[in-house]
Amino acid sequence: MTQELVPVLSQADIHERVKGLAERISDDYGPTGLIILGVLKGAFVFLADLVREISIPVRIEFIQVASYGAGMETSGEVKLIKGLEINLENRHVLVVEDIIDSGLTIAYLLDHLEKMRPKSVRVCTLIDKKGRREVDIPIDYVGHSVDSGFLVGYGLDYNEKYRGLPGVYHLKQ
Ligand code: IMP
Ligand code: MG
Repeated sequence: MTQELVPVLSQADIHERVKGLAERISDDYGPTGLIILGVLKGAFVFLADLVREISIPVRIEFIQVASYGAGMETSGEVKLIKGLEINLENRHVLVVEDIIDSGLTIAYLLDHLEKMRPKSVRVCTLIDKKGRREVDIPIDYVGHSVDSGFLVGYGLDYNEKYRGLPGVYHLKQ
């Protein structure tokens, strides 16, 4: 089976998007800051770059969910693998995702987080894959939108491969 990697976002493209998002986030939240909640594993590269461009105080936490198993299709079933160790009550929380596809993962997460009574919850994603959305979730900060296709690189994987690529690619096979 041959796989082809077609460039979608270069390192320079990503840097520009990340800077723009970080500026908006810094302006929107201001000096009281926020909790950045990264969704493992895919968001780790994006989050690392994003927090270094944000100019207000941030606390960084991680949560891990799984919905995919191996392959390119969501199983539709979301599982919490690593929960939160802090109390979110009355805090401003920004969930940082690598990519939102069906929306099932983020819908599950938002539901889970709301139970902790945060002051606000917003969503930031590097990539909004709009074409296969099954639940309508408002996404506050979007780096780049695509309609479809399976993307890898910059944290995004296919069966745990390609996360270390510096750009984002469309995996064609
Ligand atoms: P959703 O629940 O269908 O929105 O899928 C969200 C999760 O599936 C993301 O956090 C990714 O981990 C994974 N995912 C969805 N689309 C892609 C893709 O194109 N490449 C790599 N991972 C993906
Ligand atoms: Mg993910």
